[in-house]
Amino acid sequence: MTQASYYKHHIFFCLNQRDNGQASCAEHGAQEAFEHCKAQVKAAGLSGPGGVRVNKAGCLDRCAGGPVAVVYPEAVWYSFVDKADISEIVESHLKNSKPVERLLVPADVGR
Ligand code: FES
Repeated sequence: MTQASYYKHHIFFCLNQRDNGQASCAEHGAQEAFEHCKAQVKAAGLSGPGGVRVNKAGCLDRCAGGPVAVVYPEAVWYSFVDKADISEIVESHLKNSKPVERLLVPADVGR
């Protein structure tokens, strides 16, 4: 038996900050992107069960594509640059279930 997912889309943002000099998403605007996403989702009335949940995450181990976020249950990975990218993810994917092809993390990008 399959169970419907509690959230239609659940997006996790890596907010990891490294202090050892290695690159991490937090150095590339991840916190601002996370907050912008939360605000946009709320403003669009998408929050809550059956809708969209925006969560913080630690390192997702795909740092080379950072800053990154992943949307479940589809397991679609994004690499973003600015707030406009986040707005596009919200509008296209989280609102209309259409992934933003140009922001996808290439399959071979890892740590
Ligand atoms: S630091 Fe963000 S994925 Fe590793």
